[in-house]
Amino acid sequence: MGINRRDFVVKTGLAGLGLAGSSLTRGSASAEALNPGAANATNESAGKKHVQRFNMSGFASEPLPKVRVAILGTGQRGPAYIQNLKHLEGVEIKALCDIRPKKLEAAKAMLAGTAHNPDVYNGEEDWQKVCQRDDVDLVVVTTPWYMHAMMSVYAMNHGKHVASEVPAAGTIDECWQLVETAERTRRHCMMMENYCYLPFQLLTLNMARQGLFGEVFHADCAYNTSKMHNNFSKNLYWNMWWLRLYAARRGNLYPTHGLGPVSTIMNINRGDKFEFLVSVDSDDFMMKARAEELANKDDFFKPFAKETYRGCMSVTTIRTTMGRTITVQHDASSPSPHNLIHAIYGTKGAALYDPQPPRIALGKHDWVSRDEFKKLQEKYTPEITKKLSDLAARTRAGHGGTDLLETWHLIDCLRNGLPLDMDVYDAAAWSSIVPLSQQSVLGRSTSVDIPDFTVGAWKTNKPNMDIMLTRGGNTEILV
Ligand SMILES: NC(=O)c1ccc[n+]([C@@H]2O[C@H](COP(=O)([O-])OP(=O)(O)OC[C@H]3O[C@@H](n4cnc5c(N)ncnc54)[C@H](O)[C@@H]3O)[C@@H](O)[C@H]2O)c1
Repeated sequence: MGINRRDFVVKTGLAGLGLAGSSLTRGSASAEALNPGAANATNESAGKKHVQRFNMSGFASEPLPKVRVAILGTGQRGPAYIQNLKHLEGVEIKALCDIRPKKLEAAKAMLAGTAHNPDVYNGEEDWQKVCQRDDVDLVVVTTPWYMHAMMSVYAMNHGKHVASEVPAAGTIDECWQLVETAERTRRHCMMMENYCYLPFQLLTLNMARQGLFGEVFHADCAYNTSKMHNNFSKNLYWNMWWLRLYAARRGNLYPTHGLGPVSTIMNINRGDKFEFLVSVDSDDFMMKARAEELANKDDFFKPFAKETYRGCMSVTTIRTTMGRTITVQHDASSPSPHNLIHAIYGTKGAALYDPQPPRIALGKHDWVSRDEFKKLQEKYTPEITKKLSDLAARTRAGHGGTDLLETWHLIDCLRNGLPLDMDVYDAAAWSSIVPLSQQSVLGRSTSVDIPDFTVGAWKTNKPNMDIMLTRGGNTEILV
């Protein structure tokens, strides 16, 4: 059941990255044979000649009064979807798939006493059978992220809409595969960037749309949270996949939680686009030391003690085509509290989420008072956030209700035949920072072009997520 070295090299797209020789990832198989495109992960990219068959921005598919769902991967994240989906009107969970039977049983048990009775699949390649079913509309991909693109492309090729966990792809070739497949099949491929739905992130999106920040010219964002405990836990992530990735890759392994919300505010792919980036990693001061410490007590960790790890801090600076800038950090090891930064700088105002408490400045060189902040919060928090916050508490939705809001709106849009909040170009652009930051780091912080996955359509594509700022939706939440 464990992933072997060959598969790890192939599925992470590490062949050709100069990192595949690591003792955890070394392998000799032809990457091209098993995962076409992965072998070229470093060098393909910005210059690709892509002809847009169909513009998926603003795409609306046929309304689906009932959305029939399959979930691939029932580790930790898969069950979070079950927890939300089981409370939504017009949803039927048809299939669950995981290679770990116990996880599968536990996931199915969450649906006991409901109208859902999904079939379960636990073979290594069974996810393909799930995608081949003709009674599934939406495939939710919650496996380790280096498998997402392979599974999403296969699902779209079998006529399914896709909701992929973050990031949606690990190589530039995979990003293009997602774009090409979505355009050819006209199936949605939404990367479920739930941090876009956090209350302060939606508040600042709404304020930006109302012009309160003026022209937003810079943003700082991050996913800074210690994964030292989780990554070194033997029984948490399947096959220690996260720790293996920190050994195998360089650059920002998890950019989208920070980048999604600020890209939405800055209308990336809709009036502006990422142009190029430079990235730098610090050395690793913690992970190898931790692996060595554990290896002294437990042979299981001996192979991990031989590795070198991505540095403690990764910093990327992006410049956009319209001359604006974004910094993205990823610290996965320091004891610093969870920190997304989410700093917005505009010509008329500014906002800062972390370190807490969240703050807003308007016009003057000072943060507004707490009273003033509350008034702004009351006035500009979208109705949808207010409406769902109580229901989210009652359904025990994750991330303070954010996950329920995201999943509910996805289902509501599919049922009503509306465009989704995020499209395949967002999935590709935001995920592309994973391989491109690595490319920059390995090139001593060389400047790397970021592909335009919209192939010029960014100039006329309309802003996203604006529908959800104002609409009520009609899908009931059953509590
Ligand atoms: N948006 C968020 O807030 C958030 C939070 C946590 C995780 N995630 C993302 O969700 C994804 C899953 O993370 P997780 O924490 O649940 O990891 P996990 O290791 O707990 O779960 C992944 C599951 O995939 C299964 N799997 C592996 N190979 C498979 C195959 N061939 N077929 C079917 N199932 C297979 C594993 O057995 C495991 O149960 C990751 O990509 C992660 O980045 C997102």
